[in-house]
Amino acid sequence: MITELISLALHARKSAYAPYSNYFVGAAIATDAGVFVGCNIENASYGLCNCAERTAIFSAVAAGARTVTAVAVATRDGGSPCGACRQVLAEFADPDCPVVCVNETGEVTFQTTVGALLPAAFTPRNLTR
Ligand code: THU
Repeated sequence: MITELISLALHARKSAYAPYSNYFVGAAIATDAGVFVGCNIENASYGLCNCAERTAIFSAVAAGARTVTAVAVATRDGGSPCGACRQVLAEFADPDCPVVCVNETGEVTFQTTVGALLPAAFTPRNLTR
């Protein structure tokens, strides 16, 4: 599964709209509703840029998914998900959900979990009473 997600993330990266940063990102996620991909989508109003990971998660949720079970992210240097994406991942993934980062050649640079990326996360469990 991770191998498939890596190749999907590398492919999704080609769709990135990143004319301002030129930092092209692709993401692929496995969910309870299947596999989804995303890319970063920037905007002339810079604050409206959306990361690849959140594009993938929001597409998945819009299609009915509620649980993310594995994540692959492709960037030129194998960078890891930003803080906002870590929080959104923590909403839909268990702490042991694997996250793999690859560079533009598909080499794994970083392999971790959602829980390690965002320890002591504030999650929906905090709001149940
Ligand atoms: N970006 C992502 O897509 N994912 C991340 O986790 C880090 C940053 C995007 C946002 C922006 O379009 C570009 O990379 C530079 O920050």
